[in-house]
Amino acid sequence: MFVPKLRLENKVVIVTGAGCVGPGWGNGRAISVRFAQEGARVFAVDKSLDAMTETRDMIHAFGGDFTPHVADVTDSRAIAELVTACIARYGTIDLLVNNVGGPAPGGPVVLSEESWDAQIDLNLKSVFLMCKYVMPVMESQGAGAIVNIASISGIRFSGSPQVGYAAAKAGVIQFGRVVAVEYAKKGIRINTVLPGQLHTPLVDAVLANTQSGGDVETLLKRRQARIPMPFTGDGRDTANAALFLASDEARFITGTELIVDGGMTAKCD
Ligand SMILES: NC(=O)c1ccc[n+]([C@@H]2O[C@H](COP(=O)([O-])OP(=O)(O)OC[C@H]3O[C@@H](n4cnc5c(N)ncnc54)[C@H](O)[C@@H]3O)[C@@H](O)[C@H]2O)c1
Repeated sequence: MFVPKLRLENKVVIVTGAGCVGPGWGNGRAISVRFAQEGARVFAVDKSLDAMTETRDMIHAFGGDFTPHVADVTDSRAIAELVTACIARYGTIDLLVNNVGGPAPGGPVVLSEESWDAQIDLNLKSVFLMCKYVMPVMESQGAGAIVNIASISGIRFSGSPQVGYAAAKAGVIQFGRVVAVEYAKKGIRINTVLPGQLHTPLVDAVLANTQSGGDVETLLKRRQARIPMPFTGDGRDTANAALFLASDEARFITGTELIVDGGMTAKCD
């Protein structure tokens, strides 16, 4: 008899940025919930405990397993501690989703040196540090899968100049390819999801202020106008792509990227 199996049954996943800047489907929240729905035990990391409350409630609502941990993923000592805490809690780390990140506006003249450094730390160094501490655990297990959340900003101009963000996300993509080759024979896969312009709480809480003087509807229409498909995706679309790449269904896939943008990158303007 065929017994259906959850796609991540009993796997332990670390998700960084598992909270959200507001209510609704941010990427980290959606990834945490989707992975838990498929049987994963979620070790959720965020710099804010409050930001993880809604994520925890959603997962507990269907009896999922969720452990919140407060840490700043640009801080190597905090990362060493979170890896120890995850092992103490679950005994293993099967999956890692590096989701923390976010943009700051400006090209090289407008963006301050401090903001440039902060963008590289938040979007790229965080990925490097998480891999530095998690991969030895995966290597000792002889298995693991890592999914990094980059952005189409890493491969194309996506509407406004965010040079620190774009450069960091391009770095995340190439980081994934190089590490994938090094670790391919060690049983560890690493892939990257490139979300396009989504309607996540970040748009309402942050981008509307920085890009359209607080006018959310105008910004949403402007973003939708660049997307060939007739609707704007949200964190759940990123989560489903990450789920596939993390699951055994992607066992022969490493060092590559999955674009989730409603066709925006395929369009040549
Ligand atoms: N929202 C979009 O439209 C969009 C599009 C493309 C790519 N992305 C990428 O998706 C990822 C998630 O974005 P989002 O908008 O869903 O996130 P979000 O801002 O809604 O939530 C991210 C969470 O990360 C936490 N966080 C921020 N800095 C942290 C740090 N240093 N250490 C630990 N936690 C930290 C925040 O507290 C927050 O709860 C980012 O990498 C972003 O670049 C988002």
